Amino acid sequence: MIRIMQIGYGYWGNNVAKKLILSSKFELEYLVETDLKKCEMARTTMPNVPVINDYLEKLDEVDAVAICTQTEYSFQIAMDAMTAGKDVFIEKPLAKNVALAEQLVKLAKEKNVILHCDHLMIYNPVVRYIKKMIDNGELGDVIYIDISRINLGPIRKDINAMLDLAVHDIAVIDYLLGGFEPEYLDIVGTKFCGKQENITYLTMKSGEKLVNINSSWISPVKVRTTTIGGTKKMVVFDDLAINKLKIYDSGIDVIQGEIYGDYEFKTRVGDVFMPHISFEDSLLNSLEHFADCIVKRKESMSGPEQCIRVMKILEWAQNILKSQK
Ligand SMILES: NC(=O)c1ccc[n+]([C@@H]2O[C@H](COP(=O)([O-])OP(=O)(O)OC[C@H]3O[C@@H](n4cnc5c(N)ncnc54)[C@H](O)[C@@H]3O)[C@@H](O)[C@H]2O)c1
Repeated sequence: MIRIMQIGYGYWGNNVAKKLILSSKFELEYLVETDLKKCEMARTTMPNVPVINDYLEKLDEVDAVAICTQTEYSFQIAMDAMTAGKDVFIEKPLAKNVALAEQLVKLAKEKNVILHCDHLMIYNPVVRYIKKMIDNGELGDVIYIDISRINLGPIRKDINAMLDLAVHDIAVIDYLLGGFEPEYLDIVGTKFCGKQENITYLTMKSGEKLVNINSSWISPVKVRTTTIGGTKKMVVFDDLAINKLKIYDSGIDVIQGEIYGDYEFKTRVGDVFMPHISFEDSLLNSLEHFADCIVKRKESMSGPEQCIRVMKILEWAQNILKSQK
């Protein structure tokens, strides 16, 4: 069993703690929280887990840490933990910018510790199913990916909607395409309330592949859809539906004309298939992949390499948003 300390027990940390307790791979040794009310909540819900205020106090008693604080505090905690030789599970985004992310990655390499960022959507069984379809050629070449991750709040003060929401989608795209480094990127956002963009529209292009990501905290309805158009088939992943994945045997065929060099486009509308994909908890999968990496001393799928690619996209987009002020 991996002895782990969790730092931060807010909105998301609450979920992480539950999964750490559920998993047979971890022993949650300590929970660290600076907010006294949240400490009390943690003591009530998890009476067997000691709750402390300062992570440095007990760092030497654990093998790994799970950092679930706000992004602005997670960098220093991760640096302290890795300096002490601990494997690190860190909530997304890895850091506030590429320079800080690169410092974390450098230290992880120097200390030979596992650095795993919780890009949890890549541990979703539907995403894994789509990845297999892309890798075995069933979709054909991916032409476009169109994603909506929109809902009503919570409005964050420390980061904007893109950093909060699109980070998942960029990681998924990176995973599905075996690494995604666009040549073109543009973004627009609007600040309805506060100092951060509450809605962002991010567009990217790599070769002939187009990507569009819509992130919003100001939508009356919650939407979680990913549409992927391939040259052979197309898929729609609706994370809120009962049948989450629909595979459309539809597309555009290019038909050779009668005269040499002439051609026409014909729409092809075929069957729609809904595969049964058993439910798996993505957060638990993410934590257990981290555990597996610790045991086998192998790099995480959402480890340094993916994190840096994702962070570069986020920073590029952030710089464009800043220039629009
Ligand atoms: N993977 C996901 O799907 C997902 C979903 C939501 C949030 N998140 C991420 O989780 C992180 C936390 O988000 P949240 O919404 O839970 O924030 P939050 O503000 O609700 O909770 C953060 C907690 O960390 C505590 N904290 C801060 N510094 C600390 C320290 N030095 N020691 C101990 N505790 C400390 C705060 O008191 C707070 O309770 C963010 O990075 C966010 O992006 C991830």
